[in-house]
Amino acid sequence: MMLVITGGGRGIGAATARLAAERGYAICVNYRKDRTAAEQVVHEISSSGGRAIAVAADVAVESDVVRLFDSAEEALGPLSGLVNNAGVLETQMRVDAMDAGRLQRVFATNVIGSFLCAREAVRRMSSRHGGRGGAIVNVSSGASRLGSPGEYVDYAASKGAIDTLTIGLAREVAEEGIRVNAVRPGFIYTEMHASGGEPTRVDRVKEMVPMKRGGQPEEVARAIVWLLSDEASYTTGAFIDVTGGK
Ligand SMILES: NC(=O)c1ccc[n+]([C@@H]2O[C@H](COP(=O)([O-])OP(=O)(O)OC[C@H]3O[C@@H](n4cnc5c(N)ncnc54)[C@H](OP(=O)(O)O)[C@@H]3O)[C@@H](O)[C@H]2O)c1
Repeated sequence: MMLVITGGGRGIGAATARLAAERGYAICVNYRKDRTAAEQVVHEISSSGGRAIAVAADVAVESDVVRLFDSAEEALGPLSGLVNNAGVLETQMRVDAMDAGRLQRVFATNVIGSFLCAREAVRRMSSRHGGRGGAIVNVSSGASRLGSPGEYVDYAASKGAIDTLTIGLAREVAEEGIRVNAVRPGFIYTEMHASGGEPTRVDRVKEMVPMKRGGQPEEVARAIVWLLSDEASYTTGAFIDVTGGK
């Protein structure tokens, strides 16, 4: 069993890589810039007896995505799953302050990147293309339901697109041995909030969560790994909110 995890060097992606490796998957840890972090995840997996490689690729660049999947299969064998996890947000601001460059960057990684990776996964796993089937888990966000007013409506809208990708692709490939599901994390302790200009955001907003706390990346990873597994064999086009009730 082999997984490509985009943005697997840090945060939720890294936690998913570690847990999936424990469950026996070989892991291709994709990253864009932070090579040290990705190689650390690979080192941890290898030291525990697992198989992993790190591959630098920008998911928003089509040729990078093809090279990512080719490298993964060459080193680790046929693809059996994709975690579409790479995602970005930018400084908190209202929609009336956003420029086109920002919108292009957010939608390029979050939406186009997820589509391109899903395309490569379907081309390699679908029975229609001679593949053996597999599973895709898209990492959306509770923001797709809540809209993130005053912070990043662009990011929330990009996750709305991921929800629709999940529904449509799940139905498109359901007969071809591929399940497509999504997790929608809530406020999770990762470095992503620093990109929004507020590294301590989770602690500020946690009182809004019914459970009154932020989540850990490992709590999201468990939902992702369940959706990838045969335990979820009749689950497709579904969403798991990992949000402490929000
Ligand atoms: N944290 C939360 O509260 C939260 C809530 C809801 C949803 N999510 C979603 O969960 C996913 C992971 O978030 P996180 O909090 O773990 O983020 P994070 O700690 O900021 O990590 C993001 C990862 O994505 C990679 N990445 C970013 N742009 C990329 C690109 N164009 N191509 C390839 N890799 C790219 C980064 O690579 P480098 O390390 O090389 O920079 C990094 O490994 C995202 O989709 C995010 O929207 C997070």
